Amino acid sequence: MFRTHTCGELRAESIGTEVNLCGWVHSRRDHGGIIFVDLRDRYGLTQVVFDPRINKEAHKLAESIRSEWVLQCKGKVRDRGEELHNPNLETGDIEVEIHELKILNKAQTPPFELEKEVKNEDLRLQYRYLDLRRQQMQRNLELRHKMCLVIREYFDKKGFWDVETPIMVKGTPEGSREYLVPSRLHPGKFYVLPQSPQQLKQLLMVGGIDRYFQIARCFRDEDLRGDRQPEFTQFELEMSFVDQEDVMDTVEDCFHDLTAQCAPQKNWKKYLKDGRFVRFTWHEAMERYGTDKPDIRFGLEFVNITDESKECGFGIFEKAEYISALPVSQECGELSRKDIDDLTDIARQNGAGGLAWFRVGEESGPVAKNATKDFLDTVITKTKAKPGDLIFFGAGSFIRAVEPLGAVRNALGKKFQLAEKDDFAYAWVYDFPLFEQKEDGTMQAAHHPFTSPHLEDLEYLKSDPLRVRSYAYDVVLNGVELGGGSVRIHDPELQHTMFEVLGLSEEETQRRFGHLLKAFQYGCPPHGGCAMGLDRVVMMFADEPNIREVIAFPKNQSAQDLMLGAPAPMPEKELREQNIQVLEESD
Ligand code: AMO
Repeated sequence: MFRTHTCGELRAESIGTEVNLCGWVHSRRDHGGIIFVDLRDRYGLTQVVFDPRINKEAHKLAESIRSEWVLQCKGKVRDRGEELHNPNLETGDIEVEIHELKILNKAQTPPFELEKEVKNEDLRLQYRYLDLRRQQMQRNLELRHKMCLVIREYFDKKGFWDVETPIMVKGTPEGSREYLVPSRLHPGKFYVLPQSPQQLKQLLMVGGIDRYFQIARCFRDEDLRGDRQPEFTQFELEMSFVDQEDVMDTVEDCFHDLTAQCAPQKNWKKYLKDGRFVRFTWHEAMERYGTDKPDIRFGLEFVNITDESKECGFGIFEKAEYISALPVSQECGELSRKDIDDLTDIARQNGAGGLAWFRVGEESGPVAKNATKDFLDTVITKTKAKPGDLIFFGAGSFIRAVEPLGAVRNALGKKFQLAEKDDFAYAWVYDFPLFEQKEDGTMQAAHHPFTSPHLEDLEYLKSDPLRVRSYAYDVVLNGVELGGGSVRIHDPELQHTMFEVLGLSEEETQRRFGHLLKAFQYGCPPHGGCAMGLDRVVMMFADEPNIREVIAFPKNQSAQDLMLGAPAPMPEKELREQNIQVLEESD
């Protein structure tokens, strides 16, 4: 037997037992001729002792060992002695006196200290196999594993089948650029890697699978941020004969299980309403928080003052379609002119021309100078502001008014640390608009083109598409979008019209989506589904700042795998076989 116990297993009850431990040298100390080694594996640390009086040979060998060497140690468990007990270590009452040492492997000095926080992330990623030995990474991967188990158990219990969908598919455009896979057998033709199993899961519904889930790998060639990877994982589902409520309830119950079992330390129940996640329509979320992913752990809610602004004396406000006020109580903290300038920059970066404000009780600032006293008094009453409080404003079209103010709200939340770190505030946002307008004026699907419009808004589909609401919903946690889904279009006619509004020609529609439209003609059940970013959910549960911390082998911020050295150039011969010519090479 290689080992009788793991390095995290032995307790006082084992004193006197002969054991055999294997692991890495975590640290080594020489105390007056006696060598102490903390032997480490996934399960913990055990102190092993090399005493020349017990075994000369083992002690001699132990003199040569260094950090991260791999050892097999045979010996007897003994008490450390009362004063030497280490209460911080689960195995801290005991140690093992070693009779026999075998060096299973030597190791070079690691490029960073495994015990300390390492600032250079690229170095960690280059030596990820060493980084993975660190407690933080092992804790995160264990959590991820447990969460996957809870997810699988949950969906199984609800009658869902885990069906694998292919990784080499036809272009399924959903918004981002796709990764291409050349076909050697069919020169000039390509597979693409799926952005999500979206169309395939819909086809599974046509196939009568009824309830499907998968922990699926997805690929998107998009700009990376802390919560995005080119290759990421979704846990996702699709259901037949359901409405929006059914899907949302199914997803929500999964989060109830996940939170109760994998994040019991979080305060989440206080944010529930009648035992369920709070729900906002998209319009309400935007109106109250200026974002479709509100962090509701803190207040700072907006007040709509459009009606009050009609004759306020301040030209910009009088002309604006919508005006929103954000009162910031002095109790939150002090804001200097420099802070206000910084917030103005944030508002500008988020689409505002500037950031109007005034301080209650003072005459400074453009709003106080230009607007009528009546208006200021009305705003103060309506926002319930007190002397010394600040009021910020957003003005413009609805989106232009609220979105920049939403970014200001988030910045204030961060600056004043208004959100409780250990709180989990879940929320649903639903009734998203079906379309968004691109800069060139054309429409694009806000979620994806398979999302069903509200049936009562159908009449505006062609005449006033921006007015059409959809059966799309997002699940949000502490201001982070965890997932989203929708009830799908199941009527081939309506799906066709949707592509038309999106500006796709008949030919383009057939080329890209012909397979789906064809399938819809063979008896497609009404259906809907949802997909959650597993990495993001684990990141939140693990209290980590970015998703790379919860992925064993992530890409870095430039979409490279520094450990494997990918992407990499290909030998000319292989390129020729694949019928590929490289026009330009990167450095
Ligand atoms: P959507 O595109 O909203 O929906 O994606 C669902 C969730 O996947 C996560 N996610 C990502 N995570 C890490 N890196 C990325 N690059 C990345 N992109 C998305 C997010 C997001 O909320 N097919 C639809 C779902 C459906 O309608 O059923 C879809 O993929 O957490």
